This record gives sequence, C-alpha cells and structure tokens, in this order.
Amino acid sequence: MSAGTLARELFLETFGEPPQGVWSSPGRLNLIGEHTDYNDGFALPFAIPQRTAVAVSPRSDGRLVLVSAQRQGVVDFAASALTRGSVEGWAAYPLGVLWAIREVRGEHLFAEGLSLAIASDVPTGAGLSSSAALECATALALNDLGHLRLNRHQLAAAGRRAENEMVGAPTGILDQLASLLSPSDAALLLDCRGGEATPVPLGFAAAGLAVLVADSGVHHNLADGGYAQRRAQCEVAAQVLGVASLRDANLALLEEHRERLGPLLFRRARHVVTENARVLDTVRLVREGEAREIGGLISASHASLRDDFEVSVPELDAIVEAANGAGALGARMVGGGFGGSALALVPRGLLPEVGAAIAGTFAARGVPAPPVVEVVPSAPGHRDS
Ligand code: GLA
Repeated sequence: MSAGTLARELFLETFGEPPQGVWSSPGRLNLIGEHTDYNDGFALPFAIPQRTAVAVSPRSDGRLVLVSAQRQGVVDFAASALTRGSVEGWAAYPLGVLWAIREVRGEHLFAEGLSLAIASDVPTGAGLSSSAALECATALALNDLGHLRLNRHQLAAAGRRAENEMVGAPTGILDQLASLLSPSDAALLLDCRGGEATPVPLGFAAAGLAVLVADSGVHHNLADGGYAQRRAQCEVAAQVLGVASLRDANLALLEEHRERLGPLLFRRARHVVTENARVLDTVRLVREGEAREIGGLISASHASLRDDFEVSVPELDAIVEAANGAGALGARMVGGGFGGSALALVPRGLLPEVGAAIAGTFAARGVPAPPVVEVVPSAPGHRDS
C-alpha cells in the first residue's frame, strides 16, 4: 500500500472523516556531492520511490493534532503556542514547517488548527532524507490548503528552516530541493549558491547500470554534534582562506594557506573543493554518454568523506569495499554520514554478486542483513488526492 493510501486510512481511522487532501514527497539519494550544500557548492541528487505522505484537514478548535503510522500516540498542540523550538520529537518536522511558513506569511495562518495523519516508507536515519520528505509533504499541503502560492524554492526553504530552527539540525538545502524539484526520470544538478536546479538524465538504464542502496543499520542524528562541527570547521576554513565560502576555494589556494589552516581544516576544505569538482565531472561524463566512467568519482568521494571529512563509519566502509570487490563500478556512503546508507553503481548483470557481497558484511558483524534495494529516479513531491 502506498504511503498516501496509508495516510488517508490513518486519517479516517483517527479523525472519523476523510481528509481534505493528501500530499506526498520523496526521500532522496545523493549520487555525488556530499557536505557541499552548506558550502554553497554542487550536488547531484535524485528522488527515490519511497515517500512520506501527509493527509490533512483544517480544524476549528485551535488545536494542531498529529498522528503518525510510524509512531505511537497523538500529538496535540495549541495552534497559538507554536514558537521557535517549542516542539520536540517527530512532530517538530511538520509543525516546524508551519512555524517557518508563519514566519514568512503571518502568525494567523491555520490559527483554527489542523489535523494531520502521516505515513512513510522512507527509512529513517538511513541517509535518505526521511525528514525532508516529511517537511516537504507538509509544506505542499499547507501551501495548497492555505492558498499561499509559495513556489517550490520557498517551500524548500521553509522545510530547511524547520529543520534548522525547530529541530535544531544545522543542515543545508540539498534534501528539500531534491525532494521538491527532482525530475521523475533524471537527477538534479543543484548549485546551492543560488538554488539553481538543472535536470541531468543519467542514462543508467541504457548503459546497463543500476544503483543499489544498503542501509548500514548504524543510525545517525544530524542534530548531534558531528554534523554541526564539520559545518563550523568549513566556515573557519573559508575565513582563513579569505573566501565567502569553500565554493570559492581551489586546491592552489589551499596549498598557499596550508600552514595557517593546519592539517585538520586543510583536509576538511580539501574534501569540499574536490567533491565540488567530482560533481561537475560526473555531470560532464553522463552528458557525454560515459555513465560507466563515473564509478571512480563515486569511490573517490567515499575516500574523501572517510579520510578528509571523517564522517564515514567502519560499517559503511565495509559495504563500500565489499561492493567494489564484487564488481561495482563505484560505491560510497550517502547523506550526512556517521551511519546511514551506502550506494553502489553496479553493472546490471552483477547485481546478485554485489548484493550477496554486501549481505556478507552484515553476516561478518553477526547482524541480519537489511534488504539491499535498487533505486531509480522517481517523482518529486505532489498532491496525491
Ligand atoms: C544531510 C543534510 C544535507 C547535506 C547532507 C550532506 O543530508 O540534511 O543538507 O548537508 O547531509 O551532503
């Protein structure tokens, strides 16, 4: 059953009547370009088939009432009491979006209250942007129900603001733009400086390639310190280099300031500089019909995230090594890191071997292997019904 159907059923069951509408938005897989977004850089994500759906109706009693198929209990919040940081737990994502939209469009929005029922098949903590899927589905719903006419960049910004200021995770704009703007059959080249988004057909099917994703089972929380620390380190490195953001740096500039940066900031900055270049090289290769050649860039991205940015974990490294050893053209961790998933670019004929090799890393750890799933570019956020 789709997330949209589940959300509708949960709404009916909880509130005793059908919702006024159902909206859904997808998780994303970032093919390449990690920890570049908050450095004004480039990324190449695509929407995945897994989605989060929100069934919504206005109320008249001034309450915000939320249920989720994935969580126990009902959240019941006074619509007039919504302030920055006032909501904790999973409801901070959807209510954070309402708060962020109110910051732009006025406090009176939905003062009469809302009923929301949420269902999702995006795995949480897996580096596939379950949080952005929830934020973006909510933003689409509020935009339609409130006749707000915000564009998708504005809705993405509201999602990010919810995450930054309500949830407290200092993330960039990658996930929300990917969820709302990805074309159904292509990846999206994001220039996170201005938010420019350009569809990039990957040509994987024609090249006989598939993308596999495996959840390491090590789960992360981006509101923990590691992500924020990396972000702060990038900001300091940019200051030392005298640039507005690391987007404006290059390897020659890094070498020039090697001593002033010190070894740690040098490596952090080198990751960002080389990762931006890898995104643009990937786009060039797929546009030239050389999709098979991007494997090396994907693996180089992993090495850089592991060694220079230090956001991988041994479980992800093991998946990457196993996939490459079994014939993947390239593999890497995806998302913010400290756990989550890895992707592998695999010649279609080798899918069973690569899947088995990845499963073997879990057997070695003595834990049951999660399903290793193939993902293809899928539809962006929309109204379901
Ligand atoms: C998380 C954040 C994004 C981005 C990635 C790393 O997914 O939400 O903004 O920084 O990590 O590329």
